[in-house]
Amino acid sequence: MALKIAVQMDPIERINIRGDSTFAMLLEAQQRGHAIAYYTPDRLALSGARVFTTVQPLKVRDEPGDHFTLGEPRRVELAEFDVVLLRQDPPFDLAYITSTHLLERVHPRTLVVNDPAQVRNAPEKMFVMEFPDLMPPTLVTRDLAEIKAFRAEHGDIVMKPLYGKGGEAVFRLAPQDLNFGSLYDLFAVTFREPWVVQKFLPQVRDGDKRIILVDGEFAGAVNRVPAADDLRSNMVRGGAPKATDLTPREREICKRLAPSLRARGLLFVGIDVIGDYLTEINVTSPTGIRSVKALGGPDIAAMIWDRVEAKRAAR
Ligand SMILES: Nc1ncnc2c1ncn2[C@@H]1O[C@H](COP(=O)(O)OP(=O)(O)O)[C@@H](O)[C@H]1O
Ligand SMILES: [Mg+2]
Repeated sequence: MALKIAVQMDPIERINIRGDSTFAMLLEAQQRGHAIAYYTPDRLALSGARVFTTVQPLKVRDEPGDHFTLGEPRRVELAEFDVVLLRQDPPFDLAYITSTHLLERVHPRTLVVNDPAQVRNAPEKMFVMEFPDLMPPTLVTRDLAEIKAFRAEHGDIVMKPLYGKGGEAVFRLAPQDLNFGSLYDLFAVTFREPWVVQKFLPQVRDGDKRIILVDGEFAGAVNRVPAADDLRSNMVRGGAPKATDLTPREREICKRLAPSLRARGLLFVGIDVIGDYLTEINVTSPTGIRSVKALGGPDIAAMIWDRVEAKRAAR
């Protein structure tokens, strides 16, 4: 069954294909004979009740420096497609939220992966708060008295923006750190939103594990070990990818999340676990599938397309 697929993503000329999960998904789609049309989020238009965009046919190749060919641009109605892959990267801001509103107009007749309304409703560091018993002690607030009380109780803490990504502005504050007041002030002027205050997990030295779930089921994992001179495990911050397995607790976490992920139509999800504690549920544009495969793990792109094809066939 050849599908008509549209991919909504950031400019393809700028991606690093070695680590890009979207690219891995596109290679697999092409190999399966699906037709791929490419557009960037700024090409969407809602005209009355109909959503239009200008797409270009896309061919991909696993060759750095020569990884794509685009065909002639064509204005189309988004509803023409069987599947839209929502692979726009954060920031998760009002532009992103507007994108989800537009995509919601065509879903589920056109299957949008992940479900755009659910992407909107499940920001990575908010959705996870539905599972407090799986998480480290965590507070979402911008209230100084709340943060001081949390700090008094937990001592060693981390402060990070609620809508941050890639390790941006993630700070550890040791119990006696005199910079707390200034850091509070800096957060208060920098961010309009509340932010995350979390118990510091010393196990982060052993890594922050990305576990990928496809339609609620465990698909693969990669551990990311921070550089010796950084708290942050994000690969863009020098975190080193390492092959890994799941601990019994991590299997338990996956089991607990499965029903909620399935019910929400969150087909491709990446969760992050530090020292057996769940810290994030990434649904906007999760990554990690190329690292998993490069380290000898399974082909998660194939698993994703198996699920998408099954869902389309069942329509
Ligand atoms: N509670 C914590 N304890 C220890 N390290 C943490 C904690 N929270 C975040 N970190 C470190 O900071 C990195 C980035 O934080 P994270 O919450 O994953 O935000 P982001 O969305 O920016 O990836 C993590 O990969 C981890 O290395
Ligand atoms: Mg993270």
